[in-house]
Amino acid sequence: MSSKNALSAAIRSIPDYPKPGIIFRDITTLLGDAVAFGQAVDELVAPYAGLGVDKIAGIEARGFILGGALAHQLKAGFVPIRKKGKLPHQTVRMAYSLEYGTDEMEIHVDAVKAGEKVILTDDLIATGGTAEGAVKLLRQLGAEIVSACFVIDLPDLGGRRRLEELGVEVRTLVEFSGH
Ligand code: PRP
Ligand code: MG
Repeated sequence: MSSKNALSAAIRSIPDYPKPGIIFRDITTLLGDAVAFGQAVDELVAPYAGLGVDKIAGIEARGFILGGALAHQLKAGFVPIRKKGKLPHQTVRMAYSLEYGTDEMEIHVDAVKAGEKVILTDDLIATGGTAEGAVKLLRQLGAEIVSACFVIDLPDLGGRRRLEELGVEVRTLVEFSGH
């Protein structure tokens, strides 16, 4: 099996969750598989080796799991981007679009210093609304966003293009079409 197929096979697809017509791409099966999890992390970090990345910013919640592993591999710090009301210190807040309506995310004001090189990560990019909010927050703090990486891309939903239009390089490992 190719490495891409092995990763795809480790992701569980659950039809009609959370509602009819949606196929939920569940990475808990990949995370629980030592070989697949290790391979995903290795493939995500490979293009960034030697770039001198300062911080990995992970989006709540599954971006924390990947982000911690990436930070360790790249010898970078980790910073969480959280749903509003969860971070204890002073924050900057950003509204972002969801499939229905909007929500808000936050980052600590001192999580990233101006000019630091940051990689953004999450488990999946769909419409890109969540990642776009995170990009705007990081840029508000003066971060230089080196790249954004995700295990899963749902290309039909256009998130990659949306981030690229913001000038952000996007890297993903597996694609699922016809979500
Ligand atoms: C999912 C996924 C991404 C986001 C992608 O998170 O983990 O964070 O949606 O969607 P988008 O590209 O259309 O913005 P969800 O909002 O379900 O929250 P969770 O990770 O806390 O479960
Ligand atoms: Mg999420």
